[in-house]
Amino acid sequence: MTERVVAGGRVEEDAQYEAGLRPRSLNEYIGQYRVRDNLEVSIEAARGRAEALDHILLYGPPGLGKTTLAYVIGNEMGVPVRATAGPVIEKPGDLAAMLTNLQQHEVLFIDEIHRLAPAIEEILYPAMEDYELDIVIGQGPSARSVKVPLQRFTLIGATTRAGLLTSPLRARFGIVHRLDFYEAADIEEIVRRSARILGVVIDDEAGKEVARRSRGTPRIANRLLRRVRDYAQVRADGRITVEVARAAMKLLEVDDQGFDDVDRKLLLTIIEKFSGGPVGVNSLAAAVSEEKDAIEDIYEPFLIQAGFLDRTPRGRIATARAYEYFGLTAPGRDSRLW
Ligand SMILES: Nc1ncnc2c1ncn2[C@@H]1O[C@H](COP(=O)(O)OP(=O)(O)OP(=O)(O)O)[C@@H](O)[C@H]1O
Ligand SMILES: [Mg+2]
Repeated sequence: MTERVVAGGRVEEDAQYEAGLRPRSLNEYIGQYRVRDNLEVSIEAARGRAEALDHILLYGPPGLGKTTLAYVIGNEMGVPVRATAGPVIEKPGDLAAMLTNLQQHEVLFIDEIHRLAPAIEEILYPAMEDYELDIVIGQGPSARSVKVPLQRFTLIGATTRAGLLTSPLRARFGIVHRLDFYEAADIEEIVRRSARILGVVIDDEAGKEVARRSRGTPRIANRLLRRVRDYAQVRADGRITVEVARAAMKLLEVDDQGFDDVDRKLLLTIIEKFSGGPVGVNSLAAAVSEEKDAIEDIYEPFLIQAGFLDRTPRGRIATARAYEYFGLTAPGRDSRLW
């Protein structure tokens, strides 16, 4: 698969830059003000009582800053963050070892927490609720269960697919926050901040151009910025002017909305195959050969927020804006007009 420049997910090349661009404190963390304010209160309260912070679930589309926020929280609490991921934990013993190694108030960060195997997830229940492990020793009739106490720790779980979390697991998070796509002004600020860190000069208008195509997603903003910086260096004098930014993004084939093939395919399928909708998400998934969950959790949230797709009780519909985007005329929706 070719890597799409406007995919929210992380690609190989992002990894080496992300560490340097990641905000470390709540103050540096731009946008998501509601989440930030709430966390600020929770953190200050926990610190004031010298207690562990409640377990936190962060969810939302890829690239919005869940992992970043987990480290920010650890930093604000003044504790290390031990990180792992759902698919990486293979044996119950692996997780048990991590849990018993945690010191007081430390953070265990489990990325892609919806992908924990059921047997492993069950270990988390008593660990989160009572700070203890239930370990079964031996097998058959002689098997017995022993309880191992744990330090009071904080679990931070992150997922792009909150819907896939089991309810017992979800219920054990005292704090649950959804990250939303960023406001234009916040993405612009992120572009300016990253440009400063990367040491590149970018004009205001150019920053806006980059931000506008970033789908409200910091990871995409940072990626586009790096590509535009390359272009400025090779084809201009290094400074990112609005002309440079536009030319670079034209070359990258990033359109005005920051759409990629999947977005276009989704919208066109609704328009062409389903007469604009409403179409059920299952039929839509089958028609574009994507997973239903991926459509619901990854692709459509941005299209809905940008006003190109509507979710109705009877299914998805392409909005007039979507028709305009393809240079088509939207059919009147009022059946009396037909
Ligand atoms: N609030 C923010 N302010 C500034 N930069 C941010 C912010 N949030 C995220 N970023 C930048 O975006 C990049 C991607 O963020 P992060 O890796 O935390 O996303 P994520 O939600 O964990 O994605 P995934 O679902 O793929 O794991 C970070 O490296 C960071 O540079
Ligand atoms: Mg992450």
